[in-house]
Amino acid sequence: MISSQTFQLDEKGQHRLVLVPSPEALAAWGAREIVRLAQEAIAQRGLFHWVLSGGNTPQALYQRLAELPNESIPWSQVHVWWGDERNVPLTDEQSNYRMAWQVLLGRIPLPQANIHRIRTELGAKEAASEYAAELQATVPAWASTLPRLDLILLGMGEDGHTASLFPYTSGLTERQQLVIANPVPQLQTTRITMTLPLINAAAHVMFLVSGASKAETLWKVLFGPRMPLELPAQEVQPVSGTLTWLVDAPAATAILSELSKRFGTTL
Ligand code: 6PG
Repeated sequence: MISSQTFQLDEKGQHRLVLVPSPEALAAWGAREIVRLAQEAIAQRGLFHWVLSGGNTPQALYQRLAELPNESIPWSQVHVWWGDERNVPLTDEQSNYRMAWQVLLGRIPLPQANIHRIRTELGAKEAASEYAAELQATVPAWASTLPRLDLILLGMGEDGHTASLFPYTSGLTERQQLVIANPVPQLQTTRITMTLPLINAAAHVMFLVSGASKAETLWKVLFGPRMPLELPAQEVQPVSGTLTWLVDAPAATAILSELSKRFGTTL
């Protein structure tokens, strides 16, 4: 049993924070939630379109999914996508695809055709436009005109970035394209990233936030003033989907007093 506390952050019950004690508990809770959402999507629509996040935090979660009995998720009905990718070859140690392949995708019976890699070998701009076209052609739109991904996993950087939407980058204001090549001067590189309109069209978005280094930023993003260019993670507000902040105790230290104040609990 994973000990967790859930705090509803909005009246509609679409926006919640789930507090777990440790990085291990975050991986366990997150894996269980992904199994639940996959089974739900597959029961309702026959497929589960799941967007992976890069970076370090999701790796332990991916590991757990790889170790599940194969019947936990009907992998043949799962399609995986990436929320962003570094502008490097798929063999590069910086590649989000390479990490996901090593930790998860190469260890589960997921058909190769269901793995939608961002083809960085085309160059950032071409890779972004090809990826957007593939999303449009593959993922149903449901109520809106945008592809409605079933679950988007996101991380949050200490600077408040998410996916590859970094502070003060042009990608933050993109409202037409679904996927773009986003120049990131602070990293002296260009990244390929899903944009806010696509992210906010998802059925479910789940942030994974772990570690003390994220604590101050998490407070600013959740409870500080709205600063869309400075704190891109604040702009993730699913239009008609759910938003879950899955946070471990080390990352929650700066928000505990706010949670106690709002929910009257001693944390
Ligand atoms: C990436 C991710 C990025 C990541 C955050 C947090 O390509 O790196 O998409 O947005 O989620 O930087 O990374 P950590 O989990 O390593 O802290």
